[in-house]
Parts: sequence; structure tokens; C-alpha cells
Amino acid sequence: NGSAGKAGKSRNILEKMDETGKNCVVFYGSQTGTAEDYASRLAKEGHSRFGLKTMTADLEDFDYENLDQFPEDKVAMFVLATYGEGEPTDNAVEFYEFMGGDDISFSEKGGSDESPLSTLQYVAFGLGNNTYEHYNSMVRNVSKYLDRLGAKRIGEAGEGDDGAGTMEEDFLSWKEPMWAALASAMSLEEREAIYEPVFEITEKPDMDVSDDTVYLGEPNKNHLEGHSKGPYNAHNPYIAPIAESKEIFTDKTRNCLHLEIDVAGSNLSYTTGDHIAVWPTNAGKEVDRFIDILGLTDRRHMVIAVKGLDATAKVPFPSPTTYDAVIRYQMEICAPMSRQFVSQLAQFAPNDAIKAEMTKIGEDKDIFSEQVAEKYYNLAQFLEYMSNGEKWEKIPFSIFIEALHKIQPRYYSISSSSLVQKDKISITAIVESIEKPGAPHVVKGVTTNYLLALKQKQHGDPHPDPHGLDYAITGPRNKYDGIHVPVHVRHSNFKLPSDPSKPIIMVGPGTGVAPFRGFVQERAQQAENGENVGKTILFFGCRRKSEDFLYEDEWKQYGETMGDKFELVTAFSRDGPEKVYVQHRLKERAEEINKLLEQKAYFYVCGDAANMAREVNEILAQIISDQRGVTKQKGEEIVKAMRASNQYQEDVWS
Ligand code: 2AM
Repeated sequence: NGSAGKAGKSRNILEKMDETGKNCVVFYGSQTGTAEDYASRLAKEGHSRFGLKTMTADLEDFDYENLDQFPEDKVAMFVLATYGEGEPTDNAVEFYEFMGGDDISFSEKGGSDESPLSTLQYVAFGLGNNTYEHYNSMVRNVSKYLDRLGAKRIGEAGEGDDGAGTMEEDFLSWKEPMWAALASAMSLEEREAIYEPVFEITEKPDMDVSDDTVYLGEPNKNHLEGHSKGPYNAHNPYIAPIAESKEIFTDKTRNCLHLEIDVAGSNLSYTTGDHIAVWPTNAGKEVDRFIDILGLTDRRHMVIAVKGLDATAKVPFPSPTTYDAVIRYQMEICAPMSRQFVSQLAQFAPNDAIKAEMTKIGEDKDIFSEQVAEKYYNLAQFLEYMSNGEKWEKIPFSIFIEALHKIQPRYYSISSSSLVQKDKISITAIVESIEKPGAPHVVKGVTTNYLLALKQKQHGDPHPDPHGLDYAITGPRNKYDGIHVPVHVRHSNFKLPSDPSKPIIMVGPGTGVAPFRGFVQERAQQAENGENVGKTILFFGCRRKSEDFLYEDEWKQYGETMGDKFELVTAFSRDGPEKVYVQHRLKERAEEINKLLEQKAYFYVCGDAANMAREVNEILAQIISDQRGVTKQKGEEIVKAMRASNQYQEDVWS
């Protein structure tokens, strides 16, 4: 138990609330930071609008045996993400197991009390994804547990849906009625929200960036201290050399990268099917835009000290630092502008006309959608658009630290086999550069464009900056030198059968093929080692044979090693008069697929969750029902059972 050991830190939430004078705690169960971010927003709003004395709390930092003494005049909020196949986030596991336990017992009232939590009033919001089967199961189950224990829920338990892309709107429409219900339950008076900064920013003109204590973007604490130490994980990335990087599409209008990350000597280990996390840096062009519209250009390298104004406010990055370093390496500045943030920033508009316009946009979902969301504006683009380039000098910098996400690592399915290359991790990724119909600019993925820029830098490309990515390299302590990349490994359950003689069927169109390159690489190696390798079928789809047929030559090689044990089935969607997708190919081979499944073949799907993976799932149920002469519903049940037993595995993204 990692957090229990933190020296001197009390795990008693009631004590903590008493000591700090809080009457509202917002607990979060968060994996990638989104739930944590929503929790902070609730805490902030509860304070500014209703005068609640709020704090946020990481679920893993506290114990819950004394929740039965939670005072009646206080409130607990739960913001809970559901992870993967209905699981709690890592930081919520203990809480979840405790609350759901069969013989749960609290410190004061024993198991005999029917309603031990009768004094606890709570509100709940869940973050989920409806493309997964156990949609929002965390918030649903936790509410059920709390209700069973006699706690009193205020308002509805909200559910946000990332699958439908409506998370933000789901949150906004849930919280208004919740606040009204809470205000009535606690007799709170709504007040004119006045912004109170959570952080104090002090400029230090007497210091400069040559000072060793100033954080300039070193990816982690160890690097700040001038040396690197493992273990490397989500809190401590490894600064890995890039052994190789190249583009692997013949199609020159799109970029697909193949990278080899060297992890030799790092103690980072992976097994085939795992994910690698890449810690991105914001594009120079977007950093400049952000700094410019705030009128910070002259002071961008000014040393600043950042401190929480409240005992529970944690500064989410090292201090002292500079505006430039924080914006470049710490804040998710390229994310789409949110409606709530539009409303919040209105009060700092350069003039009253802009303020009125902003207020209007913030209040109206449809206007917001038309003027902001559909244009894919990020924060700085939006501010530029609103003020016509006039600077926004009145915005307190604290608000960005509060409202913008901390930059998050992005996960990629590893496209190599650990049996073949244990010290080198491959990544296969399409560089996102998308022309959206309503957007005045090309929408660029932060991390894949960062990786592309690294590739160009490594190759000394004479035109290293076609995407306007200019990574400022500030000083020798900064390990973002353009030829290293901060990474860590996340283990997954997406795994080959331990017995290589078992047949496998893989479905991976586009870069969904990534983990399957690793799978096939591994099986080819096993065949070469003389092992008995089972049938290995890969369904791959892309636009055109001549454009984006990934690893075409490699498949031929694997075929030579594995003989008829390996088969590649292709679906080129744009080569013929009609679209052909991987699922059409699956159907054409219904009989064979069904036979293999009956021989307990493992079935794998990787790639787009929203359409492809769902359709493949449906087609498979249909194949089973046709081939086995059972009802459609029975076919679906069989697929479900396959999932439950891990015979059917998915690695999908939206
Ligand atoms: P398309 O872009 O021509 O429609 C990799 O992106 C491949 O997946 C492309 O050939 C793409 O075809 C195809 N694709 C798009 N939507 C799909 C879906 N719903 N199911 C399977 N493949 C799909």
C-alpha cells in the first residue's frame, strides 16, 4: 500500500476536514486526471457560488471506517471514473472494495446497525464510456452501496459519457439541478460568484533561468536533481533514446510513424500486448499563441514562484519555474475550449462588449456549439477570436493552473514482441492532422505531431518544422533535447494465449494492427524456435494497397517463416467500387472462423471503438448464430461469454 506509508499524513478524512475548516469534500476516483479535474471544478464552484468550504481528496489517501461519523451538516461528493471493463480506477480500488464488502463494519456502529451512514449526505457523478459494456458501473455501484448503508443522496447520480463525446455537457446539465438540491438541503444561499485565486504567483525578477532551482521542463523530479533513477512509472517517466524512427505510409498526404524506443538499461520491461505511455510537449506554435494572447511575451522566461493559498491546494508542478515552462510542459493548452471556462473567463474580458458576448456563449449550449465547439478552438484560439487579437491581460494566471488539465501521457499499443526485442519498444501511430469542416485551422494531435517533430529532428530534416512545431530547448538540464522521449510502460490484459499451439484470430484495421504486429512477430519467432504454433489469422484493413498497407513486406516474411500457419486477410476499402471492411471479410470466412472458435481460438480486436469494434462484435455474434443454427440472441450470449472468459479480447480507443 503506497499511500499509507506517506510519513505523518493522516488518513482520517473527518479530522482533516475539521483541521482545515471544511464542510464539503470532493472525493475523486481518477485514472488519467479527468475525474480529478471535474472534482476540482466542483470544489471551486461550491466555494465561489455557495460559500461552501471545499476540498478535493484522492480516494486512496483516506480510510473509510469512520464515514458513519460524517457530520450531518457537511457533504461528501464523489466523482468516479469507470475504467476499462467496469473496473474502479487504481486509486479507488480499496475504497470500492471496502464499501462493497459483504460484512462492512464501521468504527462506531457495528454490522448490526441497518443504516450506519444515515448522517452522510452525498452527491455523485460518474465518468464512463457507453461503448463499454459496464457503462458507469463505478458510480452506479457506489451509489447503490451508499444507499444500502443508509446514506442520503442529494439530486441524481450523474453519468457522463465519453463514448458519445458528451462528457462535458453531461456534467454541466447534471450539476445545475444538483446545486439547487444541495442548496436546499443545506440551506445555502447562492451568491454572485467572485473569483478567488487558488494559487499565488509571484514574479522573481531577481532570479533567472540559469538558476539551478528553476524548473524548466525536466520531465521528473530526478531529472531536476540532475540524475535519473528508476523505477520508471506513471509518476517518473524514463527519458528514452529513440533508436529509430521512420514513416511507413507510401501515401504522402498522411504520416504514419514507426518508432523504436530504446529501453535498454532502464529496467523497464514489457510483454507483448502492453501499452507504452508517451509524455508529450506542446507545440511551440501553440505555446507562442497562448503566451502572446495573454500579453506575456516579454515576461515568458520570467521566474515565477507558485504557492497554494489554501493548505489543501497542491501546486501541480515544481516551483519556482517560468510561464513558458509551465505552459509548454505542464498544461493541456491544446484541448478544446470548454463552455464552463468561457463563462468563467468572461469577467476578465478586455472590454464590456466582449464580456457580454462571452457570457451569452457560456450560457447557451447551441451558441457555444456553433461558435466554439464546431470550430475546434483551443483556449488561445478562442481568445484570439473573441477579442480580435486584443490582449487578455486581466486574466489571473492562477485560473489556468486551476482550470486546465495537467498534461497527460498518451498510451500506444506496443507493436513489437518482447520475445523478439525486449529492450526495444515499437510504436505505430498515425500523425493526427485533421481538417474539420467547421474549423478555420487544421486540428493537430499534440503527441503524434510531437513524435513526428522528434523524427524530423533526429533525421536532421532540412525542413524540420513543416507543422510549426518548434520546441524550445532551454538549457542543459532540460532533457527534452529532441532525440529522447519520456516514456513508461503500462501493462495490459491483451495477451496471446500462453500455449502457442492455440489458434488465434486478430482483427486490426489501420493502426489497430499495432499489437498484432507484435503478436505475429512473436509467433514467427516461436515457429523459428521449433515450437508448435497454431493457426494465426490476421484481418487487416486500410484504404488502398498502394497507400497505407502497413508492414506489407514484413507479413510476407512472417509467412515464409510460419508457412500456412499464418494468413493475412486484407480489406482495401477504397480500391474497389464498394467499401470493403474487415467485417465483410470475416463474414466471407464464417465457417472457418466458427470452426476455429470451437477449437477455442482466441479472438482479438484492436482499433476504433465507436464503430469498427462494435460492428465486429455484432458480426461475430451473427456468424456464430448462422453457423451453429442458434438464435441471434444466443449468438450474442456466446460472444459475451467469450469476453467473460477472455477468449475475446479488445484493445480499443475512441
Ligand atoms: P474508409 O476510411 O475507407 O471508410 C483503416 O482506417 C481502415 O478502416 C480504412 O480502410 C477505413 O475505411 C476502415 N474503416 C472505416 N470505418 C470502418 C468500420 N466501421 N469498420 C471497419 N473498418 C472501417
